[in-house]
Amino acid sequence: MENIILTGDRPTGRLHLGHYVGSLRRRVELQNSGEFDKIFIMIADAQALTDNFDNPDKIRDNIIEVALDYLSAGLDPSKVNIFIQSAVTELTELTFYYMNLVTISRLERNPTVKAEMQLRNFETSIPAGFFTYPVSQTSDITAFKATVVPVGEDQLPMLEQAREIVRKFNATYCEEGKEVLVEPKALIPENSVCSRLPGTDGKAKMSKSLGNCIYLSDTPEEVRQKVMSMYTDPNHIKITDPGSLEGNTVFTYLDAFAKDEDFAKFCPDYKNLDEMKEHYQRGGLGDVKVKKFLLAVLEQELAPIRERRKQYEKDIPAVYEILKKGTEAASAEAAKTLSEVRAAMRINYFDDAELIASQQKKFNSTAE
Ligand code: TRP
Repeated sequence: MENIILTGDRPTGRLHLGHYVGSLRRRVELQNSGEFDKIFIMIADAQALTDNFDNPDKIRDNIIEVALDYLSAGLDPSKVNIFIQSAVTELTELTFYYMNLVTISRLERNPTVKAEMQLRNFETSIPAGFFTYPVSQTSDITAFKATVVPVGEDQLPMLEQAREIVRKFNATYCEEGKEVLVEPKALIPENSVCSRLPGTDGKAKMSKSLGNCIYLSDTPEEVRQKVMSMYTDPNHIKITDPGSLEGNTVFTYLDAFAKDEDFAKFCPDYKNLDEMKEHYQRGGLGDVKVKKFLLAVLEQELAPIRERRKQYEKDIPAVYEILKKGTEAASAEAAKTLSEVRAAMRINYFDDAELIASQQKKFNSTAE
């Protein structure tokens, strides 16, 4: 069996460090690992419309932002297909058929949907498109027969739902040994901190609406200001005070970003993060020093990303050309799966010469 990756993001804003450590950084490693036969990275505009249907320009404007973030983070269009979800129309057709394989009550129990509905105050006026987006997400994954789906932890219920639909489809429509759809596996970050990087204010996740994000496209000055005003331990007032690591955002970010070799480069007083944490807890290590170290570590990662972005920004038509090529490749792949799906579901009438011939025979015999 081929090793295939599919994953994606909703284009509702520029990508931030949460996206980067949660998934983007890993995708670049996977792309360069040589272990995958095909990689599809999707800009999920149709999914973004399920809760932004009244604001299509927001989605339209953010497609290019997400594409630029992908390319500048190091996704290489010669190795991965970056494509736009709505342009692969096979995905919507698959969704319509998969709708039959899932119940309303199962969708109501999906924890991701539940949490998102609360967040959006939908209460009783839930758009059906939003409610059923896990089904559409199953189409995204299965259209490419993806085996591996690199995502954040919050997407695990989506993958579970996708696996259920795959099993139901195969059991309902396929002979044993001739299963059409493939059950995908989620690949989540090894480091749990990376799964839900908090915002710079220490609250929950990074989220645009909370204004607590560091964006991949932020200028060095923006990053500096955000790091220097990050939430730490409010009781760590004097340098000599013992400090707490609990909920201390600067240390959470260091958990996600700092490597041992960064200490030799930027903060040689310590060999590794454990030593630095120990000093902080003991007292005698000030927040400013820790923040400056974090800033150096982040800049080391962000500077090349910013540089690549600048290059791509000079030629936006070329970026759209990359998306168009990726979308063509994705459509071709999805069309192959769709024709297998249609055959399995017995709705491939015009492609099935045997069907027509055998029915002719039947009518000839009854006519006598
Ligand atoms: N739901 C994902 C998010 O909110 C985006 C997405 C859409 C996705 N389809 C997907 C992720 C398929 C993985 C696989 O970020």
